[in-house]
Amino acid sequence: MCGIVGYIGNKDAKEILIEGLRELEYRGYDSAGLAILNSGEFNIYKAVGKLKNLEEKTKDFTTSGFSVGIAHTRWATHGKPTELNAHPHLGEESYVVHNGIIENYIELKKELEKKGVGFLSQTDTEVIVHRFEDNKKTIADNFKAFETTINELDGAYAILLVTKSSDDKIFFAKKGSPLLVGKDSNGNVYFASSDTAVIGKAEEVYYLEDDEYGYAGKNDIAVFDKSGNKKSLTFKRLSTNKLSAQKEGYRFFMEKEIYEQSEVIADTMLGRLKDEEVFFEEIDDSFFDGIDEIKFCACGTSYHAALSCAYLFERVAKIKTSVEIASELRYKEPLLTKNTLFVVISQSGETADTLETLKMAKKAGLKTLAVCNVDNSSMVRTADTTILTRAGIEKGVASTKAFATQVCVLWMLSLFMAGKKGTISKESLKEQLHLLRELPKVLKVKQKLHDRIKKLSKRYLHGHGFFFIGRDVFYPLALEGALKLKEISYLHAEGYPSGEMKHGPIALADPELFTIALLPQNLLYEKTKSNIEELSARDSTICIISSKNEEIADDFIKIDEHSHYMLEFFEMMVVLQLLSLEISVRLGNDVDMPRNLAKSVTVE
Ligand code: M6R
Repeated sequence: MCGIVGYIGNKDAKEILIEGLRELEYRGYDSAGLAILNSGEFNIYKAVGKLKNLEEKTKDFTTSGFSVGIAHTRWATHGKPTELNAHPHLGEESYVVHNGIIENYIELKKELEKKGVGFLSQTDTEVIVHRFEDNKKTIADNFKAFETTINELDGAYAILLVTKSSDDKIFFAKKGSPLLVGKDSNGNVYFASSDTAVIGKAEEVYYLEDDEYGYAGKNDIAVFDKSGNKKSLTFKRLSTNKLSAQKEGYRFFMEKEIYEQSEVIADTMLGRLKDEEVFFEEIDDSFFDGIDEIKFCACGTSYHAALSCAYLFERVAKIKTSVEIASELRYKEPLLTKNTLFVVISQSGETADTLETLKMAKKAGLKTLAVCNVDNSSMVRTADTTILTRAGIEKGVASTKAFATQVCVLWMLSLFMAGKKGTISKESLKEQLHLLRELPKVLKVKQKLHDRIKKLSKRYLHGHGFFFIGRDVFYPLALEGALKLKEISYLHAEGYPSGEMKHGPIALADPELFTIALLPQNLLYEKTKSNIEELSARDSTICIISSKNEEIADDFIKIDEHSHYMLEFFEMMVVLQLLSLEISVRLGNDVDMPRNLAKSVTVE
C-alpha cells in the first residue's frame, strides 16, 4: 500500500499535500515525496523514512498563486527505501506518483532502454513516466499520450502524473488501487487514496471506478471509462467530521475493518503470488539453510494465527512446528536450538512479552523472523527479517483484519517453504495459489449474511456460557471466535477442540450453554458432526456455521460452498467476527474500546 495526494488551485499546495499525506501515512511510511509545479517550475522534495523527514526538508519551501502538486507516501514493493526509489518519479519534464504494481514493467523498461532511456530507480513506477514521455514524441496531445500509456500497463495502479507542457493539469488513472477526486466551491481540485486526506478541504468527492482515467484542471474534471467515453459524474458530499469519515459510514472501526478485509488481503498478497510459486522478496535463498524446526511465538489473536498455520507448516512444508504463548515461554527456560527458526507474530510489533521472547531467541543465536503489521516497530527492528502483513492501521481493539492478514502471510510462507524444500508437487502448489487468489472474493461481506447474523444475535445475549468448537485449523479459529466474543461482549466464552468436549466440558451442556460449532465440508466433516451430535443429545443450544444445514442445529449460519477448507476457514472467520460485533452492539458495549483492554500491550 502507498498513499497518494494531488492538488490544483490557489491555496498553499505544500500544506495541503503534506496534511493529506499525514492522514495516509498508515498506508506506507518508508519514504515520501512531493512535486509542485509553480510559475512554470517544478519543485521536488523527497525524504527517506517517516513523513516528518519530508516536512523538515520542505520547511522553508513556500508556494504562492496557482499551483499543481502531487505527493506520495511509500510502502516499497520494488526497490529499497531510498530517495531515488521514493516517488514522484521523474522524466524529462514530467513527474508521476503511483500506488500498486506494474506487472509488465520489465518488458516496458527493456523497450525503453533499447531506445536509450536511462532509469534512476529500481521501481516499477518509473517506467510510467518514461513511457508517457516516449509516447509524447509521437502523439501531439499530452492527454492522448497519457491515455496510450495507461493502455500499455498491466497490473494495479492509482496514478497521478504532471507534465510541464500541460502545467495546469493532473492526469490520473485508477485500476485496482483506490483513488478519489474531490472539489470545492472555489474550483480547487483534490486527489487522494482515501477521503480522510481531503476532509475539511474538498466539499464533494467522486470515487473512481477501476479502469477510469482522466484529466483535471481548475474547475474542470473529466473522467473517461475503459472505452474512452466521457462520464457524467455524480459527486458525493463529503463529511466534515474526521472521525466519522474515518469510519466511512460504518458504526465502528471494528465493523469497517471486518469489511476492509477483502481489500487488505489483496494488498497482503500483492507481488507475492507468482504463476507457479510464492515469492517473498524479504527472504533470500539461504534463509532456511540449517533450519529443521519452526517455533512460533505470540499473544492473543496473533497466537491464534500461529496455531492455525502450524497445521499447514507440518502438513505441507513437512517441518516440525511448535507454537508458544509469549508470556509462558519467557520463564519456562526453554531449549532454544540453532536449527530452529524463531518466528514472532504481532500486529503492533510492540507487545512486551512477544518482544522479550524475540530478544531471548536472538541471544540464543537463533535465526529470527517477525510477521508484523507495523514497520519500524520494535520487533521489526529487532528481528533478522520481517514480513509485513500490510493490513493498514487497525483501530478496533478487537483484532480482525490483522488476524486475516497474519493467517494469509503464514499460509503463503508455508507454501514458500514447501516449494523450497520440494515437499509440494507443482500441481498442488498451483492449486493452493489459486485458492489464495480467491481470498478477496471470499472475504467480501455479503449483506444478506450480515443481516442474518444481526437478527440471530438477539438469541445469544444471555446463558451461562459459550463454547466455540472446531477441529484441526478450525480449533484455533474457535479459540479466536471465543476471544472476540469475550473481548467485546464480556460474556464467558471458551474455544475447544470438538473432539475434546467429551473429556469433561460436556458436563456443562444444557439449553443455556450455547455451542457455536464450526462444521467445514472439506475437513473432518463426519467427525466434527458426531461431536456436535454429542452436545445436541445433552440439550445444548447449537448454532452451526457451515455450508450445509444439519438437523441437529438449533440455528444455522450458512456460508458458501468452497472447494477447500482454508476458504471455509476465512469465511467462517468473518461470521465469527460479525457475530461478536452484533452481540456486543445489542448489549450496548463500546465495540472499539472495550473495557480493561488496550490496543497494544507494552507491559508485561
Ligand atoms: O499486537 P499484537 O498482535 O502482538 O497483540 C497481541 C494481543 O494483545 C492482541 O492480539 C489481542 O489479543 C487483541 N486484542 C485480540 O483482539
